[in-house]
Amino acid sequence: MGDVVRAPWNGYFVTGFDACSEVLRGRNWLAPDFAWQERQDDTGRWDAIATREMTKTLSRLNAPAHTCQRRTLGNLFDRSTIDRLTPVVEAHVDRLLDELADKLQWGDADLVSTVSEQLPISTIGSWLGIPPEDHPHILEITHNQVHAQELLPTKSQLAVSAEATVRLRAYFTGLVAQRRAAPADDVLTGWIHTWDGLEPDREAADEILYRLTMFVTIASLETTATLLSAMVGLLLGEPGRWGWLREHPEHVDAAVDEVLRYDPPIHINSRIAAEDTVLAGVPIAKDSMVHVMYGAANHDPRRNENPDAFDVLRGGSHLTFGGGVHYCLGAALARLEARTLLTALLERFPALRVCAPPSYASRMVFRRVTSMGVAI
Ligand code: HEM
Repeated sequence: MGDVVRAPWNGYFVTGFDACSEVLRGRNWLAPDFAWQERQDDTGRWDAIATREMTKTLSRLNAPAHTCQRRTLGNLFDRSTIDRLTPVVEAHVDRLLDELADKLQWGDADLVSTVSEQLPISTIGSWLGIPPEDHPHILEITHNQVHAQELLPTKSQLAVSAEATVRLRAYFTGLVAQRRAAPADDVLTGWIHTWDGLEPDREAADEILYRLTMFVTIASLETTATLLSAMVGLLLGEPGRWGWLREHPEHVDAAVDEVLRYDPPIHINSRIAAEDTVLAGVPIAKDSMVHVMYGAANHDPRRNENPDAFDVLRGGSHLTFGGGVHYCLGAALARLEARTLLTALLERFPALRVCAPPSYASRMVFRRVTSMGVAI
């Protein structure tokens, strides 16, 4: 229907790769921050607790607040951090695959609850110092919070998200307070030192620390879990793919990126026009919202030839981690988790097969695979 297609509200779907990329990288496109929300009529949506809380996080900030917070975080997962985390992720993968092997001895197993959802929380949990006994609680509230970020959340979805938001705040303010009381040689203690230096008001510093810790955690969970499940599903989806990759482990990274291109965990991200503008020939008025469709962009045949074919060797390009100033901070970590899991799965389970196809949560923006049966 075109690169830019009118939505049945004051918005546009952006589908072409170049147009999506232009929105993500262009200076005249902003995140829908509080200033914009206050100019909207739909107060039920924008005044909801869960929406407001998300609007205070990194992903909804614009310059200069966004620039300042990104600067304090730096490149979270640079080469040396990834090297340091590699054995940690390998150990988590070994433990989870032992559990999977135990279950598979007796029949089918659910890959999602046994492995895909456990690896991201184990990884971010050990990095941020979230005790393992709290992991189930964090997973549950994250699943519920995400509804508020849907394209058109219903009242009941906003209510579920509101409850989850309150619990997330309670948990992560508690985590920051604990770390203040008992500093350690870890990431969160480092962030506390940084923000105490930048923000003389302790309460304001703690508020920022809560938001950063909470947001980095929730941003890392469902996204990576969905990547891991989609990866196994797609690679087992056609006879011969799994066996071929087992014989060509040098293409594991390319396989992960083809999964990211083919089936991105996040499908939509929204921005607003800072000024009257023209996008792919379509005039767009200031304050209009545009919805960047990552999946459609990745399947644009002008960018990736024969886009609906899953082809590990295509060397394709994708926008799955976004672009520009908000580019995903955890891309290197997500790739590390996927590469480590895939390498170990290929080695330990040559005869793995999908015995119950993936089920998906009923959502549009954040895809979530809720279950997928595997067997040997
Ligand atoms: C497959 C897994 C993941 C996917 C598909 C993904 C995707 C994305 C996307 C699309 C954005 C928005 C980019 C934009 O607005 O242009 C984003 C932002 C972000 N991601 Fe990820 N992400 C993943 C994993 C992670 C992980 C593991 C972490 C942290 C450990 C993380 C932390 C963040 C943060 C903090 C932001 C906000 C950056 C900002 O607004 O400046 N993500 N991610």
